[in-house]
Amino acid sequence: MGDVSRIACAALRARIMPADQAAGRIADGDNVGMSGFTGAGYPKAVPQALAARMRAAASRGDSLKIGVWTGASTGPELDGALAAAGGMAMRVPYQADPASRRAINTGETRYVDAHLSKVAGLARDGCFGHLNWALIEVTRILEDGRFVPSTSVGNNQTWFDLADKVILEVNSWQSDKLEGIHDIQTLHGFGGAPLPLTAPCDRFGSPYLTCPAEKIAAVVETHAADRNSPFTPPDETSRCIAGHILDFLEREVRAGRMPEHLHPLQTGVGNVANAVLAGFADSRFANLTAYTEVIQDSMLDLLREGRMRCASATSFSVSPPVAAELDSILDGIRDRVVLRPQEISNHPGVIRRLGCVAINTMLEADIYGNVNSTCVMGSRMQNGIGGSGDFTRNAYLSFFVSPSIAKNGAVSCIVPMAPHVDHPDHDVHVLVTECGLADLRGLSPAERAGTIIENCAHPRFRDALRDYFKRAKARSHARHCPHLLAEALSWHERYIREGSMR
Ligand code: COA
Repeated sequence: MGDVSRIACAALRARIMPADQAAGRIADGDNVGMSGFTGAGYPKAVPQALAARMRAAASRGDSLKIGVWTGASTGPELDGALAAAGGMAMRVPYQADPASRRAINTGETRYVDAHLSKVAGLARDGCFGHLNWALIEVTRILEDGRFVPSTSVGNNQTWFDLADKVILEVNSWQSDKLEGIHDIQTLHGFGGAPLPLTAPCDRFGSPYLTCPAEKIAAVVETHAADRNSPFTPPDETSRCIAGHILDFLEREVRAGRMPEHLHPLQTGVGNVANAVLAGFADSRFANLTAYTEVIQDSMLDLLREGRMRCASATSFSVSPPVAAELDSILDGIRDRVVLRPQEISNHPGVIRRLGCVAINTMLEADIYGNVNSTCVMGSRMQNGIGGSGDFTRNAYLSFFVSPSIAKNGAVSCIVPMAPHVDHPDHDVHVLVTECGLADLRGLSPAERAGTIIENCAHPRFRDALRDYFKRAKARSHARHCPHLLAEALSWHERYIREGSMR
């Protein structure tokens, strides 16, 4: 069990209890605001104990279902366990767990997907209901009762502020070197002075989370790793995508539209995003900065090598080997990294002020540049919009990247008409697949279609897309953004009939 010295506050030490006893306090119908952002810093023991209670309740014919509010995706011990136990009545926002995805798509879980920068404000306005509990992982409790956050900040301070009662998990697996990395500040409504952030790593808050001691009902000690799934090494497809982006950015610098060190970078989550950043390691770019959401392995490499000067985010989402070394890595970079609440890491005004370069991954784009990041076939939720909308709409330059084909080549990621649009064509500046890059800035819809089909579509699907566009131009009732609606939609239906979609 955990290291008792991590709980220096005597009053809170008196509230230490086992996870199942703490979980026993949560009742059917409660809403629980949990820590956790992209598999980092989420509570691990109490959700599993709660899932066991949910299964026991179900076997007696009783109901024990809760609303789960987080920062973003968590891990199998939280989203996975609660969804598999059939106990997640409602979920907000981004998730990426197979069991919770299943519960959402069978209709068992009511899923409210939202821009990550807006979740705290919506919660403060009561849009998700009343918050009964906050269940938050921390690294350490100081003598005066303040908390050192763990590997993510997310909405933790907001959950502390809004919840009636609090359960803390103090995780001694988390590096003690995290102390001092965080910059905690909450926003309250509109108006007032602009956020004092003119460079990615400016600080204006406190390194600690706070909560009145009387709210804290239980303290649970844990020693458990973050989800930390490994990244797949960059393959030929992701190396090509990275190469196209780097060549493009070099051209932007030569054209005088970007400084040599670029504007602050934001990159999405996952393997392709990690591979794109890895590409910067072999590039001519130096003195880079990041104003982003998640620090993954390859961003830590850039920071360690000194190629990246500083990075602001809300979470460290790193693979197991990197997590094992985090202590020594943090020694070398601690004054160049800031973890913030997600309403600040993803703040639209700051993103616009800093002129971020946003690079996000998509499921598919249509020939006019509308992007679907979330709903396969327009209906089946994959993960959620995450922070991609916060960054894309407000970035100086926004990229969407994807392999040109999915499902072993059965599906084209460039389609006539996106069946669900998370990012409209107005916000999407550049599309990139391994086949090439389409710079959509300043182009009309018809010009965009030609560029996207020729540069980004896989050769196997190019003729079908050319043919669709040609017939749409000839037969559509208007030339601005020509479509043949029935045919555009049947493009996706065809894959259902052919059984190539799961
Ligand atoms: N049609 C149908 N399915 C598709 C598809 C398409 N055009 N493109 C990808 N997929 C499927 C893949 O086959 C895979 O399915 P599986 O889980 O059954 O194997 C799944 O979608 C994920 O695709 P993958 O190629 O592994 O990409 P990824 O892990 O990089 O995820 C997104 C891509 C779009 C799902 C992911 O980036 C995401 O959730 N984005 C939205 C949030 C976001 O952008 N956050 C960044 C800011 S924080």
